[in-house]
Amino acid sequence: MLENLRTLGRVIRTLATKDPVTRVRRFYEIQSPNVEFAARTTRYMNVGYWEDGVTSLDVAGEALAMKLADAAGFKPDDTVLDVGFGYGDQDFAWLRERRVAKVHGINVTPRHVEHAQQRARREGLAEQAEFQLGNALALPFADGTFDRVVALESAFHFYPRSAFFAEAFRVLKPGGTLATADIIPLSNDTARMSINSGPLSFIKFSIPDENWHDRAGYAEQLTAAGFANADVQSIQDRTWEGWRRFQASRPSDPAFQAEADRSAVKGMANHWRDETLIKKELALLDYVIAVAHKP
Ligand SMILES: C[S@@+](CC[C@H](N)C(=O)[O-])C[C@H]1O[C@@H](n2cnc3c(N)ncnc32)[C@H](O)[C@@H]1O
Repeated sequence: MLENLRTLGRVIRTLATKDPVTRVRRFYEIQSPNVEFAARTTRYMNVGYWEDGVTSLDVAGEALAMKLADAAGFKPDDTVLDVGFGYGDQDFAWLRERRVAKVHGINVTPRHVEHAQQRARREGLAEQAEFQLGNALALPFADGTFDRVVALESAFHFYPRSAFFAEAFRVLKPGGTLATADIIPLSNDTARMSINSGPLSFIKFSIPDENWHDRAGYAEQLTAAGFANADVQSIQDRTWEGWRRFQASRPSDPAFQAEADRSAVKGMANHWRDETLIKKELALLDYVIAVAHKP
């Protein structure tokens, strides 16, 4: 009960916050990690890439990270900048699986940065994985530093995303690649504020209007930032429905019930109850992987 009141207080404070960076940071501090990551083995916060038969968000979250790495063309020896890295799971996976030389992470949420830094120290990877607090719109790096810049389900928050594209262009080496996994509407006709279901409330509260473009608009903004060969591919059919099914099934999962308290389980069941509305609204959303090159 007390925890529910605290959460409500945090929601109200977040909604009343004008500064977009502070608002997004507060948004990520509402949810308790004890619930969000109950019965999970990773802290991926993306919606995942759901191959047939996959039922775990840990597996799907990592699959999406690997899709992005492949789209970006990661090579051993690459120096990678990961903007909006969450808790950093993908950075450790890219070091391990793609053998990139070094990953730098930038994130506005202190809780995320501290977690990733501690993990890097604990795993003896502090030299290869450097995480710091910072904003996507003012990257603390010299021009021409990185081989790849990536944003795994984070650029929709950047206010505005077009300014991040300009920053990514600046910090990339000539010949470098920007790749994003991102959330956009399927059509510019969908009003952002018309999306009403609880699980999609992040669209109202943490995506600015400036970022609400369809695929063609996304490619145009990449080109306007100086990138060549902007390619924006939909993976909508492998993302949203797998994520919805996973989240809706959690309240009846005994492992989740064993780790989350009863009011959280009940809250989660309520949140995901209106399957018809949630599916209808998810059908308005695209999910894309975008790739562009600095000439
Ligand atoms: C949906 S989470 C995705 C995290 C991670 N990439 C993953 O796949 O699990 C979005 C992340 O973007 C970060 N973020 C939001 N706005 C940002 C900004 N302006 N600059 C840097 N990071 C930002 C948030 O703090 C959060 O960690």
